[in-house]
Amino acid sequence: MGLLVQGSGYDKEARGGRRVEKGRVSGGIMNEKLKEFLTIDDFDLYGKTVLFRADINSVIIDGQVQMKERIVENAKTIQKLLDKKAKVVILAHQGRAGQADFLHLEQHAQLLRNFMDLKYIDDIMGSSARAAIKGLDRGEVLLLDNVRMLAEETLNKTAEEHSHSFFVRSLAPLADVYINDAFSVAHRSHASVVGFPAVLDAGIGRLMERELKTLERAVYQIKSPCVYILGGVKPEEVFDIIDVTLKRKRVDRILTTGALGTLFLYASGTIEPGEEQKADKHFMQNVEQAKRFLEMGKDIIKYPEDVAVAVDGERREIPVAQLKPNQPAYDIGEKTSEEYSERIKNARTVIMRGPAGLYEDKAFAKGTRNIFEAISHSDAYSLLGGGHTSAAISEVGIDRKSMSNAHVSLAGGAFLQYFVDKHLPGIEVLKKHQTNC
Ligand code: 3PG
Repeated sequence: MGLLVQGSGYDKEARGGRRVEKGRVSGGIMNEKLKEFLTIDDFDLYGKTVLFRADINSVIIDGQVQMKERIVENAKTIQKLLDKKAKVVILAHQGRAGQADFLHLEQHAQLLRNFMDLKYIDDIMGSSARAAIKGLDRGEVLLLDNVRMLAEETLNKTAEEHSHSFFVRSLAPLADVYINDAFSVAHRSHASVVGFPAVLDAGIGRLMERELKTLERAVYQIKSPCVYILGGVKPEEVFDIIDVTLKRKRVDRILTTGALGTLFLYASGTIEPGEEQKADKHFMQNVEQAKRFLEMGKDIIKYPEDVAVAVDGERREIPVAQLKPNQPAYDIGEKTSEEYSERIKNARTVIMRGPAGLYEDKAFAKGTRNIFEAISHSDAYSLLGGGHTSAAISEVGIDRKSMSNAHVSLAGGAFLQYFVDKHLPGIEVLKKHQTNC
């Protein structure tokens, strides 16, 4: 411990007080908030071993990891650590156990090598991993394998409990500092997120700094009309935000797309569930929840009036009443796009999570592109979140520069949870840490 830079801006004597302002950030609520954390500037990292939690969880197409912003942005912070001559050990995950995107991190290593020389080992805390960590030289970086391959990683435990895990007990003694740059996973109380900062000096990386700053500003900038555009493939991931925004009356319109939009078509009785769906308990619970939301915000929640389906592999647009039970809708239709675009253009705040359809397939990218175009033509302050949302922007051919009023967060679930309740476990543990320093 005790690696804080002399005169770095953090006055150890003034502990219990504030970190001394360095001019790096100045004024404003969000900068006040950032003072609760140590950043990589606050540590003397020369020759020190840094456990660096990155989120390089990526879009996978046909088993191939795609080179997207998460890898590019994390590479920048890693380079900063290497410039400081740290020995960097990257902890990261890909996908969830049992799902098709659950992979070793070999391909991620290959992609990161576009930016730096990097070692990779398909081990996390075994003897090979520990030997590789001990063998690191100053200015070298090692990527360990997918931390979610350890059963301990994803147990929903407190920081204190995780700090006693075999994982943390195996790696923490080999490290001097823990840096978390993975805002997008800060809503998970997982071992690699909360366990290490409980026992090591800890701080936030550059990407985390940027995300916190922007989200903090956004929370205070929500102005009416405020429009949420919620889509993606996992409806239950946005239930909390719908619930809270409706209850707190902090939303004027919720425009639903993707699987969430289809769910509301069932909840509103526009489509009757088929036998297969009725037998799916999880699906029916989601429909019931969506019905409750419609009772709470009948005029606020909008769902598609037309959708695009696949007929012989081609896009065909149909009114939603013609959608058969269990027939997948791959995109919103033209009429829905027009209505949603109009609302976006008239909004003062737009918050978007999840693409409108299967944007990876050109035939079904239109709805997502129309929404991005509406955002770029709107004067609203816009906040777009989620790995897929961010990836979709370039994928559907939108120039980021045209979205000058929009901040794109690389986080999905964490981004929404921050709006619901700013207490994300992975962030809280970094704050508490400072007072213990
Ligand atoms: C994300 O992609 O949002 C983060 O990597 C978190 O992934 P998770 O939802 O599987 O925890």
